Amino acid sequence: MTAKIIDGKTLAQKIRAELKETVQHFMKKAHFVPSLAVILIGEDPASQVYVKNKRRACAACGIRSVAYDLPLSTSQTQLLELIDQLNADPTIHGTLVQLPLPKSIDTALILEKIDPKKDVDGFHPLNLGLLAQGRPFLRPCTPYGVIRLLAQEGIALRGLEAVVVGTSTIVGKPMALELLNVKSTVTLCHSATRSLAEAIQRADLLVSAMGQPGIIQSAWIKKGAIVIDVGITRSAQGTLQGDIEFATAQQRAAYLTPVPGGVGPMTVTMLLENTLLAAQHCAGLTSSG
Ligand code: GUN
Repeated sequence: MTAKIIDGKTLAQKIRAELKETVQHFMKKAHFVPSLAVILIGEDPASQVYVKNKRRACAACGIRSVAYDLPLSTSQTQLLELIDQLNADPTIHGTLVQLPLPKSIDTALILEKIDPKKDVDGFHPLNLGLLAQGRPFLRPCTPYGVIRLLAQEGIALRGLEAVVVGTSTIVGKPMALELLNVKSTVTLCHSATRSLAEAIQRADLLVSAMGQPGIIQSAWIKKGAIVIDVGITRSAQGTLQGDIEFATAQQRAAYLTPVPGGVGPMTVTMLLENTLLAAQHCAGLTSSG
């Protein structure tokens, strides 16, 4: 068997082209530009690249992004004050705080401070709670991007044995909730899981979000499985690596996402959609939330 490669880059481009038109229609009706505040603290090179990509993607779709590039010395109080200010600003519809934050700042406290209606990352407890209740508003971008990729491929998720590896608030937990909402049977694995191999051998759908190349052996993958690799690790040589060894997984899986060019471009695209949704909500042009 040779897996079909799921091309996230092409789907992301298609959705962004449609989104650009939707943004133009929206502006004619609402008379304002959907606007995203992007906060970056410090100079972590990976975060700088992610933020640059997000800002570029906004510009390409006609979404205004407002940059808040703050020094590493920014205090928790200063960041809370900035978020307060953005929450009260009617010209800002979405606020994103790039993670990880410096150790001196309590990430949970910061994420909870963002107005849930402007929480375009979907990390606020209210938005995660709505997702857990099966009535999502702003959904975490990476898991939602995975769902959209699978839908585009025409893959039915109802009743599938789905195994998610990794329990982060950004990917693993909301991914499990998304899959539960479409009635997959979900197993969530993590660093204390006794037999990762056994769980993965049962998986019709495997989503790996550990960020540890080699954590999953291709021999564990069930023949004909759908394999989604969310892990992105930069090697010493500067190349990007997923959690799964691509060439060997391709011999077992029916579908496989590449790294890069799989889930990554969809994450940014869902951020753009969320920003438009937040702006639509602000203009009273949607009934969600
Ligand atoms: N850091 C890594 N992934 C993400 C993400 O999806 N959103 C934010 N804000 N920070 C991240």
